[in-house]
Amino acid sequence: MGLREIHPKTIVEPFRVRSIEPIRMTTLPEREEALRRAGRNPFLLRAQDVFLDLLTDSGTGAMSSSQWAGMLASDESYAGSASFYRFEEAVRDITGFSHVIPTHQGRAAEHILFSAIASPGDVIPSNTHFDTTRANVEAAGAEARDLVIPEGREPRLVHPFKGNMDLDALRETIARVGAERIPAVMLTVTNNSGGGQPVSMANVRGVSEIARASGIPFIIDACRFAENAWFVKIREDGYAERAPIEIAREMFSYADGCTMSAKKDGMANIGGFLALNDDALAARCRTLEILTEGFPTYGGMAGYDLEAVARGLYEALDEDYLRYRIRSIAYLGEKLLDAGVPIVEPTGGHAVYIDARELLPHVRPLAYPAWSLNNALYLLGGVRGVEIGSVMFGRRPDGSEEPAPMELVRLAFPRRVYTQSHVDYLVEVVIAAAEQRSALTGYRIVWQAPVLRHFTARLEPAR
Ligand code: F0G
Repeated sequence: MGLREIHPKTIVEPFRVRSIEPIRMTTLPEREEALRRAGRNPFLLRAQDVFLDLLTDSGTGAMSSSQWAGMLASDESYAGSASFYRFEEAVRDITGFSHVIPTHQGRAAEHILFSAIASPGDVIPSNTHFDTTRANVEAAGAEARDLVIPEGREPRLVHPFKGNMDLDALRETIARVGAERIPAVMLTVTNNSGGGQPVSMANVRGVSEIARASGIPFIIDACRFAENAWFVKIREDGYAERAPIEIAREMFSYADGCTMSAKKDGMANIGGFLALNDDALAARCRTLEILTEGFPTYGGMAGYDLEAVARGLYEALDEDYLRYRIRSIAYLGEKLLDAGVPIVEPTGGHAVYIDARELLPHVRPLAYPAWSLNNALYLLGGVRGVEIGSVMFGRRPDGSEEPAPMELVRLAFPRRVYTQSHVDYLVEVVIAAAEQRSALTGYRIVWQAPVLRHFTARLEPAR
């Protein structure tokens, strides 16, 4: 026929909607009142009072008709359920690890792992530990040490793999601390706390070689392994023709285990796992699992959750889905940059991170500029993001405060939930906040918990 294939630029959701959930627009006075009731902490808002909920991409995604079908056909047996074996097979097929230990979510896998391997005085290096990972390492008395490459700490610096670990710093840490005091090296893919930035396959290989040469187990925090695989495919030489699942398998082949929150690239509303190759360690972890999570063939998940994850892991690796997912984030990033809003560049996998330190230079770091900006997005547009700055990371174990390395507002996208017009609306809200920035003031904490304070702290505007 002589027709040429077209390549439209519009972001096309590779699914159609067959069930909807209404969301409610509110007025500015209503949002002011809601935020006041919530102690100026968006975590404490009622979701009903939020219009676009970008608090997290964790457990907030929409499931597919295939996942729902699997849930209906699940096996709820206490021990040895068929759903567990389907789950185990999917995890083994993708990760290659021999022991699959289900948990109710990612932090439960972290808790079991670090309870089993970490002791006071130990050091656990990572590119950047996520906050629950850090808290679980510290709860075991060990030190969580972040060794991301220097480029990863520069919000505006463009680098294809800003989540990479600094391999020299890792070698130096092992030399100084001693391999016997390092029970594991972790690597978070993508690097959530560092801006959702990917880790290259070359870096995964490099970390693996260094850890293995010293006999240290190498564990991947795999929450967003599929998104990371997509970046490897499009940015790293030699991977353009490889399927995301092959890239993921190669990545896992360099490691000795992984922790996983299935609430991200498991495409489920709850669930997770710890996967390991070491038989003796897996046996110890299963004993701990029985104490806190449940029998090893369900570990905190219902049979239907196991089914949802078994299917979700493959759906997360679908090329059309990944193209749409990463393109939506890039689209938001482009619109914000065009409007002069500073963001972490290049955009990462699951979220756009606004650089609040640059946008609000008049708010000093310990008056929490990212907190202030995030609250403004809520007040102006009913948008709920999350502060990744000095409220989340600024408290030292001795109770004193120091500014976090970056002051970011993360706008994280639930999977398969929002459309391009939601993103266009969001762009208008962020631009409005940037235009009104001089009216934004800092905050002070009036109540806080001793650990993970950002979840429950109550704040007041600082005057
Ligand atoms: N590791 C990373 C990199 C994460 O992003 C998270 C969760 C976890 C571990 C813990 O998993 O929530 O299932 O216990 N991140 C969510 C977020 C909460 O909003 O980024 P979990």
